[in-house]
Formats: sequence, structure tokens, C-alpha cells
Amino acid sequence: MNVIIIYSTIYGHNLEMSQFIHDKILPDSTLISMDNFTPVNLANYDLIIMCPCTYGEGQLTTNEEAFYHYLTKCCLTGSDYLIVGVGDKHFGPRKFANAVSIFAEKLAAAGASSITHPLKVDYDEAKLVQKRVNKIINNYYQKKGLTLPINTTM
Ligand SMILES: Cc1cc2nc3c(=O)[nH]c(=O)nc-3n(C[C@H](O)[C@H](O)[C@H](O)COP(=O)(O)O)c2cc1C
Repeated sequence: MNVIIIYSTIYGHNLEMSQFIHDKILPDSTLISMDNFTPVNLANYDLIIMCPCTYGEGQLTTNEEAFYHYLTKCCLTGSDYLIVGVGDKHFGPRKFANAVSIFAEKLAAAGASSITHPLKVDYDEAKLVQKRVNKIINNYYQKKGLTLPINTTM
């Protein structure tokens, strides 16, 4: 299973989430920041995991926007995706972790299939959600008849 984890962060919460997924669940995956994203062929990955951050008024950062436009050129019909983005629910339901909705729509438009509904995580609850993410990825591997490289029972 070829997996890539792509994150964007300013204060580190989305880096922490992506590092958790990489270090504790999928150590064989590629972990990459959107800030220094050099176009790889995303279609080569079976599973694309994204941890995007949200700033402004529910908007993408400049680097995220560049990545968003890059996705326009991608055809990801053979790939699955999981989006888990940390935001701040005090910004209200319309803006809260809105980058998750923006990227989920874009990946779906590129033809990728979601392994679960997009996850919007309040920064205060990020640690709790890690367990849920672990379960989602475990279930996904199980359904594919695969075992994870490390025992991740939490
Ligand atoms: C100027 C500013 C604008 C923000 N706008 C939003 C927003 O629209 N929606 C949201 O969910 N969080 C918003 N946040 C909060 C961040 O998304 C939140 O702190 C998140 O943890 C940042 O992710 P990061 O730590 O990976 O950079 C904003 C924060 C700042 C400083």
C-alpha cells in the first residue's frame, strides 16, 4: 500500500496530527509539507491523507491555494483519500476547519474516493481524535485484507 500524508501548518497542530499518523500508524508512508511540495504523481498513491489548516475567514493559506490549483491537473480515480484537518470551532460552523471541506471537494472532483467522511477537528480535541483516526485506518486496511506494518492497538 503506497500512502502519502500531506499537511500544512502554521502553529503545528496539523503537523502533529500528520506526524502521529506517520509515526504511530503508517511509518512506511511518505510525509510531506504543502510548503515544499514538489509535484509528485499523486496518482501513484493508493491512499492520500491530508491534514490541512484553515486561516483567514475559513480560507486556505497561500501555499494551500497553490496545492489546490495543482490538484486541478490531477486524475486520481484509482486513489482513496482521508482528510483530517485541525481548526478552531470558535470560528463558527461555516468557517471551522473549512479547508477540510475545500480539499475534500477537490479530491472528489479529481476522482478519488473517500474512506470516511472528512474529519474536522478542534485543536482542543486533537489528541482524542487521534484514536478515532487510528481506528479508521485500521478498518480501512482490514477491509483491503492488509495488515498494518506496526501493531497500533490503542
Ligand atoms: C488569523 C487567524 C485566522 C483563523 N481562522 C480560522 C478559521 O477560519 N477557521 C478555523 O477553524 N480556524 C481558524 N484559525 C485557527 C487555526 O486554524 C487553528 O489554530 C489551527 O489549529 C491551526 O492549525 P495549525 O496549528 O496546523 O497551523 C485561525 C487562526 C488565526 C490566527
